[in-house]
Amino acid sequence: MADLFSHITRILCETDPNEKAIQTRSLVKMWMNDGLEVAAPEQETAIPLQPGRPENLQLVAPGAVPRRKIGTLEGRIALLHAIAHIELNAIDLALDIIVRFAISSQLPDQFRNDFINDWLEVAADEARHFLMIEERLVQLGSHYGALSAHQGLWEAALNTRDHVLARLAIAPMLLEARGLDVTPSMIEKLQSTGDKTSANILNVIYQEEIGHVAKGVHWFNRLCKSNQIEPKSHFQKLVKERLPAGLRPPFNHEARQKAGLNDGYYLFSHP
Ligand SMILES: [Fe+2]
Ligand SMILES: [Fe+2]
Repeated sequence: MADLFSHITRILCETDPNEKAIQTRSLVKMWMNDGLEVAAPEQETAIPLQPGRPENLQLVAPGAVPRRKIGTLEGRIALLHAIAHIELNAIDLALDIIVRFAISSQLPDQFRNDFINDWLEVAADEARHFLMIEERLVQLGSHYGALSAHQGLWEAALNTRDHVLARLAIAPMLLEARGLDVTPSMIEKLQSTGDKTSANILNVIYQEEIGHVAKGVHWFNRLCKSNQIEPKSHFQKLVKERLPAGLRPPFNHEARQKAGLNDGYYLFSHP
């Protein structure tokens, strides 16, 4: 039987998004039930720099994705399509953090199993999120891949592939926390247009994303502690270095606090 990392590498390369989500869920079940051997990929190059995407998916620069009013069907489809793209990237991010850092000098050996468990749990959530949104898109007469999507999220992944603390700061603690800031108003707008089904799906995702940010904070703090680094100032240093424009108000202080991300991390002056 193949080891965990070969399974992950194969799923990262999978170009069919539904297949990627389904295979992620079955991999996590396999890991939870029987465990899998954990062996590092032979070379760093075995980890794909770009995850598999449908051939006909149009990837454009961030900001070039057309925005439409949520009040129209077209607008709701555009919103759900953008979220499906985020969830697909989130599956790849949760798998990538494992294959890239679980066996590395940056992660103490005794942390390895907990680290893999946590990020596989997140990957399974993201896979379920993707499938829920995709199902809704199909109900509304569309599907993932019907519209263009932007590369911003994966650029952040590439920009943090050298260090686990940079990845944790930028992916769960900045970008996923940003999701907590913006989702409640999306839920409200969907409700006000009468699309309760989509609003309910977003609400499930919102609640579970708090847990993902919490895992990010937990691992960031745990690794800072083991390296005798002060976490808040280190988070700020990494944000300034890697993605200063990514951290902007308004902040959902309540949800961030629930995830253990208090404002001592993210309220600081930066250009
Ligand atoms: Fe998600
Ligand atoms: Fe997430």
